[in-house]
Amino acid sequence: MPRRTKRLGRYHLTERIAFGGMAEIFRAFTFDDDGFKRDVAIKRLLPHYLEDQQFITMLTDEFKLVSHLKHPNIAEVFELVEVDENLLIAMEYVDGKDLRSTVEKAKQRRLRLALDDIAYVLARALDGLHHAHVARDERDQPLKIVHRDFSPSNILVAYDGTVKLCDFGIAKATHNRVQTKTGIIKGKVKYMSPEQAFGRKLDWRSDLFSAGSVLYELATDTAPFNASNEIDLIFAVRDAQPTPCRELNPDIPEQLGRIIEKSMSRSRSARYQTALEFRDALLRFLRNYNPKYRRTKLSRFMKRAWNEEIERDLRAMEDFVIDTAAPAPPESLGKNLIADALGPGAAYKHFSPQPTRNVEGASEVHELKTEIIDAHQATTNADERRTAKADAPHDPIHDEKTVVVTTKGK
Ligand SMILES: Nc1ncnc2c1ncn2[C@@H]1O[C@H](COP(=O)(O)OP(=O)(O)OP(=O)(O)O)[C@@H](O)[C@H]1O
Ligand SMILES: [Mg+2]
Repeated sequence: MPRRTKRLGRYHLTERIAFGGMAEIFRAFTFDDDGFKRDVAIKRLLPHYLEDQQFITMLTDEFKLVSHLKHPNIAEVFELVEVDENLLIAMEYVDGKDLRSTVEKAKQRRLRLALDDIAYVLARALDGLHHAHVARDERDQPLKIVHRDFSPSNILVAYDGTVKLCDFGIAKATHNRVQTKTGIIKGKVKYMSPEQAFGRKLDWRSDLFSAGSVLYELATDTAPFNASNEIDLIFAVRDAQPTPCRELNPDIPEQLGRIIEKSMSRSRSARYQTALEFRDALLRFLRNYNPKYRRTKLSRFMKRAWNEEIERDLRAMEDFVIDTAAPAPPESLGKNLIADALGPGAAYKHFSPQPTRNVEGASEVHELKTEIIDAHQATTNADERRTAKADAPHDPIHDEKTVVVTTKGK
């Protein structure tokens, strides 16, 4: 049965994949210059953020910096766009899952991410992180980017084993918006560095401590800092004295144990000084631990843990009904708040809500075949429209003005 989508700017929103305190995440698609469908992820900020001009200014400033980041281990940001009273972040869609839900899913299925996979994921995420830490603007000035929220939910692992770090630029802008009485962001303490838990000025070594905490948690299956309430948790993070990881998991080799300990040093100068140094230590461990390690091992793990979801997603992508056959007027594409930073060659400029070319024959070189149904045919097909409406998930983003173009999976 065809499923309806809602267009917002250049994007057709299909499925809501997550809903949190700050935003909703949608799977979406758009069309490139050659008429091919291109998957994107859309983060739609909750409406009250739009009323907060100071927040928007801060987010825009942060995203202008982040727009410089282009790296295979960073999920690319295409737009920060204001459209139809929505504030959206359009970014590269990662066909996979984040590390937090992957670990949860694996537990349910009695699977466990092995130490070599853990070392590999962290090494790749650190590659992305290093790129951001040393990034410079077009005048060669250091951007001094600190992620501030390096955590398992912001590390995306694709089903093919590719690792991408996301959500640069968000933590800083939201910092003043979701504070508790203690001045610390609620629910974000777990992977903070001690200096972050003290509310001090941060440099990139803060992210390296967070990466250490993530590594510790994955390797021991236990969070490094635990407390029954947030205040005590803040104190525990400030102390930075977790139970030695090899006491919790005797399978952790000494070499990896040392890496974890060093990365989680309370003193910044005792930690790895760059993400690259940390990454190299992990890669050295990986070479000793499993010299034959390949990314395909991680891919197999992801596919095993998520096989049901992969099947479901494939079926779900088979049939879409997208809104509006009429050409989208330029003003309906919204206002990209970081357009000047992205420059004239930006990827989003090649995105259009409708296929601008006939894609006949394109299926041979592309996994999707797009079939355009004439607007008249679609609007007269009232039955189908009614069914589509009844079938649509209960979700405020989906409205009734749909049904014109059908995009089918092969
Ligand atoms: N670019 C993307 N491609 C695919 N899935 C994504 C993408 N970005 C986010 N997701 C999915 O959406 C989920 C929710 O993301 P979101 O950033 O809103 O919240 P979070 O990461 O859980 O928390 P926070 O970022 O606030 O720490 C992620 O955990 C991930 O599973
Ligand atoms: Mg996130």
